[in-house]
Amino acid sequence: MEQAQTKRIVLGITGGIAAYKAAEFTRLLIKQGFEVQVAMTEAATHFITPTTMQALSGRAVLTDQWQDDKGMAHIHTSRVADAIVIAPASADFIAKLASGLANDLLSTLCLARDCPLLVAPAMNKQMWSNAATQRNIQRLIADGVTILGPASGAQACGEEGMGRMLEAEQLAQDIAAIFQPKLLAGRKVIITAGPTYEAIDAVRGITNRSSGKMGYAIAQAALELGAQVTLISGPTALDKPQGAQVVNVTSGAEMFEAVKQQVAKTDMFIGVAAVADYRVAQPSEQKIKRSDAALTLELIPNPDILAWVANLPQPPFCVGFAAESEKLREHATEKRKKKNIPLLAANLAQNAIGSDDNELVLFDDAGEHVLPRADKLTLARALLRHAAALYKKGSTQ
Ligand code: C5P
Repeated sequence: MEQAQTKRIVLGITGGIAAYKAAEFTRLLIKQGFEVQVAMTEAATHFITPTTMQALSGRAVLTDQWQDDKGMAHIHTSRVADAIVIAPASADFIAKLASGLANDLLSTLCLARDCPLLVAPAMNKQMWSNAATQRNIQRLIADGVTILGPASGAQACGEEGMGRMLEAEQLAQDIAAIFQPKLLAGRKVIITAGPTYEAIDAVRGITNRSSGKMGYAIAQAALELGAQVTLISGPTALDKPQGAQVVNVTSGAEMFEAVKQQVAKTDMFIGVAAVADYRVAQPSEQKIKRSDAALTLELIPNPDILAWVANLPQPPFCVGFAAESEKLREHATEKRKKKNIPLLAANLAQNAIGSDDNELVLFDDAGEHVLPRADKLTLARALLRHAAALYKKGSTQ
């Protein structure tokens, strides 16, 4: 990777059992051609020794605010860095970053930085889901910090759940991606996300359990790749991704209208929304009164938005999603053909809906590509890298 050869990463290690993964992470970064300057908190040195990190990075490890003879390690180190990566980032360190504290070398150099900051959280699942941690994470995202992971799985404490640090390989891939060219720079990308709500009467409706998390993560990943993003979203409780144009809609028909209005000059269309297959033929304007008689609602099909876009005379590069409850491969392959789309991401609905992580299988002309279980943003990044490569290949053929 030619571009990364001169890039300097400051790798900040904080106190947590996942600190052992920082050794492999450093090795992979060095292998990819990065220069790595390790800085450790005092707590981190209880989990992995500076000697190990020094041997792997080939540089003296910074641990002490007062050790640098120029007395300005925090300014100097952050000035020459192209990115600072905190891996693992403990709940305590994340809280520190969110409040702008600077009471040790690592937190001071984060505050004094002039480069991107990336944070790979690692903690017990309760600590991760604690309202304070979630608040701090949201604060960091709003401050422009990139959060890498976490993943879910077995934890050192013996529990199972969200909070595991991403594997070293994944982290190294994500860091490399940041220094890669902005694959979608100047491209217009439309993403539909979330559920739709189809009114039955003035107060009731038909909807589904889609949270919108996957679509919003894809919007975020597309922004990271330099795309101009329009997110057409059904009702969700999520924060708007910074930098995206968001069009809020309620029903499938409204979503379709918004897509029609926005679709001109679009380079890529990604249908992630769980559009209701049917809507009520004649929703009642007033609340339907209860009676003892049976009630029949006539349902009529909603338009297939993705299929409509994919079959335009000059369609954008279309990506579809398929949430299946069984026979993933069979149904996904059939759906990709039926909707006439080059790329389809499939998952098992029972694994995906509402959860923070997921597992995807991509289907394209070349076959199947498994994206292993990870948080939705990690998957979104991998999916978009794949889509951007196919898009580029198609447009240069
Ligand atoms: O056919 P199915 O609903 O399983 O297809 C799912 C894919 O099609 C998703 O990408 C979804 O966003 C899109 N879709 C759509 N409009 C519909 C139904 C599905 O765009 N009415």
